[in-house]
Amino acid sequence: MTDIEKKPDRAPVPKEWTYAPAPESRDVVRLQERYGHFIAGEWVEPSDTYATISPASEETLATVGQGTQEDVDRAVAAARDAYANGWSSLPGSERAKYLFRIARILQERSREFAVLESLNGGKPIKESRDVDLPLAAAHFFYYAGWADKLEYAFPNRKPGPVGVAGQIIPWNFPLLMLAWKLAPALACGNTVVLKPAETTPLTALLFCDVLRQAELPPGVVNIVTGDGRTGAALVDHDGVDKIAFTGSTEVGKAIQRRLAGTGKKLTLELGGKAANIVFDDCALDQAVEGIVNGIYFNQGHVCCAGSRLFAQESIYEPLVEKLKRRLETLRVGDPLDKNTDVGAINSKMQLDRITELVEAGKEEGAEIYQPPCRLPEKGYWFVPTVFTNVAQSYRIAQEEIFGPVLSVLTFRTPEEAVEKANNTPYGLSAGVWTEKGSRILWMAQRLRAGVVWANTFNRFDPTSPFGGYKESGFGREGGRHGLEPYLRVEE
Ligand code: NAI
Ligand code: MG
Repeated sequence: MTDIEKKPDRAPVPKEWTYAPAPESRDVVRLQERYGHFIAGEWVEPSDTYATISPASEETLATVGQGTQEDVDRAVAAARDAYANGWSSLPGSERAKYLFRIARILQERSREFAVLESLNGGKPIKESRDVDLPLAAAHFFYYAGWADKLEYAFPNRKPGPVGVAGQIIPWNFPLLMLAWKLAPALACGNTVVLKPAETTPLTALLFCDVLRQAELPPGVVNIVTGDGRTGAALVDHDGVDKIAFTGSTEVGKAIQRRLAGTGKKLTLELGGKAANIVFDDCALDQAVEGIVNGIYFNQGHVCCAGSRLFAQESIYEPLVEKLKRRLETLRVGDPLDKNTDVGAINSKMQLDRITELVEAGKEEGAEIYQPPCRLPEKGYWFVPTVFTNVAQSYRIAQEEIFGPVLSVLTFRTPEEAVEKANNTPYGLSAGVWTEKGSRILWMAQRLRAGVVWANTFNRFDPTSPFGGYKESGFGREGGRHGLEPYLRVEE
């Protein structure tokens, strides 16, 4: 008889649970060494250039154009020409075909775009793959559906296009913001000159290839890269009928001043300092996930980020305890690693701004918590941070940090929560966590925010209008509302 080998009564447990690297391959992206501006369907050699880098490694990815007044002039002239000679009078059903094509090509090439977005902007690949790209395609699909139904959206008001739209976008969701801007503009029969943010031009430049593949008529979309000077030239251009801007409140205000009295249409989507309000009857673990998603998603580079957490006093301690424990499990590092939760800070400039505000928080007397975390040596990084003991007057409770930094405040009653939440110059979004449906509605009526999420956060959908109150801007993007800024209707 053979001896029956006695099995150990426990399976061996590894000493440490660490993730093996799981990098997404970069091979799917073929970068050119140098890019020009995309004007009238052609690449125009830039007279002035700069290098665009990867914020995770500081390596140069490509040389791109710094658009001059002359480049902007050419692009606006091309857009005007395309507007007058075909695009604006094309039947909506024909415009829709182009938009559907663009949406399908984006889906087909989504991996390539996702990798490039993470390379140039620093966001985790799982976000560019699962959020930015699907939503960008969905936006084109959605507005393709409206292109031949504008008469139904605005019955008896003879909706027609505005003309040439100048669009200026930020670096936090480069391709998605491009989609938010282009899709409704084109669906309504406008032509466009778009300026990507200076730190993240590459997916917009790759998108020009999609426009060619879709055989969009030349000049309908023109892309001029460059910094704020290029943006200013576009804003001031006489040949532009409408400006759409997403970015800082400071620049938004300056644009509004410059356009006063010019007759140009304007929409502004600016900053935020959203309240995420947690009541003691909520599903606490679910709320912790929502808080984490609200502020650490995309390194906190999100205008609607839940940067102020309001915890009801009765659950303050367990909530903060759970939150800190959850923070320890966040993986910070290589944006192209599929396990990464928090990627690189988009630029040195943004890192400096975050650092400055975090220092101010410490000086003003807030208590800082940062989980143990090894950061890569090169590149721009910031450890996910929680501030407790925050007073409403502190800079970290008032100013947009636009980084992975959460300020925790408390409240006792729903009335107090509303009052504190609304105590901000901004009004873009808010979150409410409670089991009680009637309380959700009560809160949503009183919160001065364009979007109020209930038992969730940072959910986006092309059918849902998005935009702000007060210093968060005006005008809506998404949904039927998102058509209005791109139409002239009979009053
Ligand atoms: P920014 O407002 O300077 O940049 C946004 C876009 O505007 C970029 O394309 C930029 O080139 C362009 N721009 C800059 N100056 C311009 C001008 N005078 N005329 C026309 N266009 C101009 O934002 P920045 O400096 O990158 O970030 C500063 C702060 O703004 C961030 O820390 C954050 O708080 C906030 N921000 C908010 C965003 C949002 O989604 N609401 C997006 C980006 C930044
Ligand atoms: Mg700026």
